[in-house]
Amino acid sequence: EMPKPFQSAFVMPPVLAPDKVEVDPADGKPVNHYTVTEKAAMASILPRLQTPILGYNGIFPGPTISLDQGTKAVVRVRNRLPATHPNDGHVLSTSTHLHGSASLPQFDGYASDVTQTGFFKDYHYPNFQPARTLWYHDHGVHFTAQNAYSGLAAQYHLHDPLERQLLPQGGFDVPRIISDAMFAANGALGYDDNTHSGLWGDVILVNGKPWPVMKVQKRIYRFRVLNCSISRSVRLTLSTGDPLIIVGTDGGLVPTPQKVANYRHAGAERYEVLIDFRKYKAGQRIELRNLSNPNNVDYDFTSKVMAFDVTDEPVNTGDPTWNTVPAQLAPTNEVMTMTEKQATKVRKFRVKRNDVTNIWTIDDDSWQDVIASGYKKVAAEVDLDAVEVWEIENRSGGWFHPVHIHLVDFKVLSRNGRAPFLHELGPKDVVYVGEGETVRLLMKFGPHRGRYMVHCHNLPHEDHDMMVQFRVGLKED
Ligand code: C2O
Ligand code: CU
Repeated sequence: EMPKPFQSAFVMPPVLAPDKVEVDPADGKPVNHYTVTEKAAMASILPRLQTPILGYNGIFPGPTISLDQGTKAVVRVRNRLPATHPNDGHVLSTSTHLHGSASLPQFDGYASDVTQTGFFKDYHYPNFQPARTLWYHDHGVHFTAQNAYSGLAAQYHLHDPLERQLLPQGGFDVPRIISDAMFAANGALGYDDNTHSGLWGDVILVNGKPWPVMKVQKRIYRFRVLNCSISRSVRLTLSTGDPLIIVGTDGGLVPTPQKVANYRHAGAERYEVLIDFRKYKAGQRIELRNLSNPNNVDYDFTSKVMAFDVTDEPVNTGDPTWNTVPAQLAPTNEVMTMTEKQATKVRKFRVKRNDVTNIWTIDDDSWQDVIASGYKKVAAEVDLDAVEVWEIENRSGGWFHPVHIHLVDFKVLSRNGRAPFLHELGPKDVVYVGEGETVRLLMKFGPHRGRYMVHCHNLPHEDHDMMVQFRVGLKED
C-alpha cells in the first residue's frame, strides 16, 4: 500500500555520540572519535511494509554528527555492507565524502579511494571552518547514485559561537532531509534510470518518512534543509504564503537574512531557513509545498513535502531566539567579502551531454577520461591561495545541473549577467545551473594542496560521467 501525505510523524535523526574525546598533543585541540558502520538493514517507511536499505549504522538518514568549530574529528567508517548490491549486483566498495568540509585530499572521498566490504577507513576532519550544515554520503566511483539512494546519507553540524548566539539551538534547530523515492509493491526501493538522466520518485520523504507532520510551538524554528534527492530539485513554499527566511547556505550563515516567498533547492544544496510560527493558531496546519522547477518529473503528491501542526505547548520566552530574526548574521564571512578584482584568472566550463556517446561531460571531459589517463588528467591547475572566477554555462537544453566544487566555498557573482537570487546570497559549494543559465562564481583555493573533484550533483549525471578534477598547488614550474 502506497503512503499518502501527512500520515506519518516527523522524526529527527539521532545524534551520534563520540566513542572517545582526546586532546591532540600537537596543538592541544580536542579530537572527537566516532564510529559509523555501513550496513544493510530494514527501514519502516511505508505502512505495513519493510524496506531494505543500506545505511550508516543501518538507518536512513544516518546519525547526525554535531560538534563545535575547533574540535577535530576522526570518523571510522566501517564497511559491513554485503559485497554486492542486493538489487543490481554492483560491488559495494565505498568512499565517504564529508560534503562542505575543506578536508585533506586523502580524506575527501575521492571517487576511486574506496574501502571494500570488511574493511574500514579513518577519516580526519579539520572543522576549522565557520558554522555550517554539512552532510556525509557515499562517493564510490560510478555508483554514488545507487548507494546514496539506498540510504548512505546523513547530516553533520558544525557549530561556532556566533551561530550558537544568534540562531535557535537544540530541539528548535531541526534537520530536514528531503528526498524522493519510488517503491515496488513489496516495499523495496525502485531504481529506474536506464538513460542515466535522473531518477524522479513519486514519494517525498523527509528524514526518511513520507510527507510527515511535525508538531510545532508558536515560536521561530530553524530548519537545516538538505535536498538529498538523487536528481529532483524542489521549489519550497509555505501554504500560508508567509515567507521563508534564509539564514544559511551551504557554507554557513549568510551576511543578512533574506525573506523569500519560495526558493529553488537542488540536490546537495543546504539552506538554513527560519519559519516563524508565532502568529498561527493552535490546531492550525501549515503545509510545506513544492512548486517544482523545469526539467523535473512530477507525480500526484510531489507538490507536497510535509506539514506543521501548531500546538498550545508553552514557549520558553527566556530563549531570545524564540522571537528574534537577527538583522545581520555573518557580514564578515571571508568568501562573501571577496571581490572580483581579487581574481587572477577566469576559467570557463561548459556542461553538456555528448550527443554521440550520450556521456555527460564538463568541457567535453568526463571521469572516464580521468580514469583512462591514470588520474593524471586535470581540468584546472590552480595555485595555492589563488582567487579565481569560474564561469559555468549550461546550454545542454532540457536539463539542470547542480554543480559542486570540492574543497572551496564560493560566492555566486551573477547568473546570466544579473544579480544572484536572494536565497543564494551566502557562501555556497553547489550552484544550481538551470537550463540556459550561465553562472559566475568567485572562490579562493586552499588551504590544502591536492587533487579535488568537481561534478554535477544530479548523481546519475555524476556517475555517467560528469565529473572532472582540479589540482591545487601541485603545478611543477
Ligand atoms: Cu556531495 Cu562530490 O559530493
Ligand atoms: Cu547534471
